[in-house]
Amino acid sequence: MEKLLLSLLFLTTVTGHKTHSDMKGKVFIFPQESATAYVSLIPRVHKPLQNFTLCLKAFTDLSRSYSLFSYNTRTQENALLLFVKKVGVYELYIGNSWVTFNAPPSPYSPVHVCTSWESASGIAELWVNGKLLGRKGVRKGYTVGLDAKIILGQEQDSFGGKFDIAQSLVGEIWDVTLWDHVLPLKDMCDSCYSGNILNWQDLTYEENGYVVTKPKVWA
Ligand SMILES: *[C@@H]1O[C@H](CO)[C@@H](O)[C@H](O)[C@H]1NC(C)=O
Repeated sequence: MEKLLLSLLFLTTVTGHKTHSDMKGKVFIFPQESATAYVSLIPRVHKPLQNFTLCLKAFTDLSRSYSLFSYNTRTQENALLLFVKKVGVYELYIGNSWVTFNAPPSPYSPVHVCTSWESASGIAELWVNGKLLGRKGVRKGYTVGLDAKIILGQEQDSFGGKFDIAQSLVGEIWDVTLWDHVLPLKDMCDSCYSGNILNWQDLTYEENGYVVTKPKVWA
């Protein structure tokens, strides 16, 4: 009975095109290369960001460029973008400026990526699979605007659109979480899902095009 109640509580509710769901243990699969398949994530609160931490897990066998997380505002392209230039080369864009972090290439295995940024110092960190790849400065003093379109699967060249098939993600993505503050990433997994801006266990999203939700196969 308790189990039934629990599953009722966490039952996916669909309102309009928006889905509200506990995505724990689930992934979005982008099964084909396209410029039309994407998932739009709806933030829990709309607020400007002076600090943030973003974590996600992904798997792909792409060797070309692709976007992992694309956050645009009406007035600012690449307000917050996590982009893979090629295998092992990560670019974090803040306010359309970027820093590059180089990871030892490990193709064909899932990655756990966490990045944080603090406006006051401009310092950005990028962690891959629990290892710090460095701390670099970008857009000191900037504020990431509110009223964002947050897109998985495609890279936005406008507000919510203008996708480039050559920057699309073909693969899987899960545990996408965004906080409005800088977390100590060294021992972060206690709070892996419970972002106050995006929470994977309490996610509101909209699927567009060929996107499939499946149980995850990797941790
Ligand atoms: C961002 O972090 C700094 C500390 O680095 C803090 O002083 C500031 O209040 C934070 N801003 C917000 C809006 O939380």
